This record gives sequence, C-alpha cells and structure tokens, in this order.
Amino acid sequence: MRVLFVCLGNICRSPLAEGVFRAEAARAGLSEGLRVDSAGTGNWHAGEAPDARAVAVAARHGIDISSQRARQISRGDFHAFDLILGMDHRNVQDLTRIAAFDNKATIDLFLGHATGETRDVADPYYGNEADFEAAYRDIKAGATALAAVLAGKTSRDSG
Ligand code: 4NP
Repeated sequence: MRVLFVCLGNICRSPLAEGVFRAEAARAGLSEGLRVDSAGTGNWHAGEAPDARAVAVAARHGIDISSQRARQISRGDFHAFDLILGMDHRNVQDLTRIAAFDNKATIDLFLGHATGETRDVADPYYGNEADFEAAYRDIKAGATALAAVLAGKTSRDSG
C-alpha cells in the first residue's frame, strides 16, 4: 500500500500526516510493504523543512518530522501511489484537476476516507499554536482510523 498525503504547501498539515501516520501504521503492524510520503499542490515551499510550528507540535507529541522536505505533487505520483489523500476539499479539487484522466490512484478527502467524517483539516498556516494543535488532533484521529482501516481491523470499507 502506497499512501500520499497532500496539502497546499507541504510544510504544515501533510508533513504532520506523514509523520503521525507512519507512527500509527507501525503501531498497527502495517509497516511491511507500506510507502508513505507527502506533497503540496503548490510549489512555493519546495525544498524547505516543515514549518517550525508543525515541527514543534509534532515534537510535543513525540514525533520528529524535522528531516522532511517539501515537494510539489507531480503527475508520476498518480501512478506511484494507491491512495492520495487531500487534507481539505480544495486540495481534493486541485488533485482531481491535476490528475485529469491519467490517474491510477484513489483520490479522497483525508478525514472522510479515514473516519467517514467529511470535513477539512483546517489550514493552520495563518493561525497560532492552538490552530496547530487542532490540526494535530484532527490528523492524529484520522491517521489512527486510517491505519485501522488499512490493517483490516474495522468493518469500514477502505474504499
Ligand atoms: P499547508 O499550510 O498547506 O498545511 O502546508 C500552508 C503552507 C503555506 C501556505 C499556505 C498553507 N502558503 O500560502 O504559503
């Protein structure tokens, strides 16, 4: 299973999702054959480390995302990944547009796919520490549910 998390800049939400999901997947015994990555629909931050506030919230919860580097999604990603999860509705809309007709992946909304709760992980970039904590909480809940779905531990259809 190859999973790609996508947000706008790939410096706040999707790096958190990548790091938290890695930890949850390991906990669920999913690591074998699992590939996890993240990307942004935009290229403004390509090559950069995650936002210091995202690194800090992850560290507060025992996860190190500091060595990740941002990249923009590419057409090849739609063949290289089975599941591409956008953090908000705009990400999903952009992904669908970029993929056009040349897509082999399942593109879906992260929280919707993981928990059935069709809502965004709000963009914390212009927010404060509380907004980063809120994003972390959403991502933790989604990552835990997604790991359970992929491990076949729930009856929910993995889509
Ligand atoms: P992200 O947050 O999509 O969660 O990485 C953002 C990062 C950068 C910008 C917007 C959102 N930006 O406008 O540069």
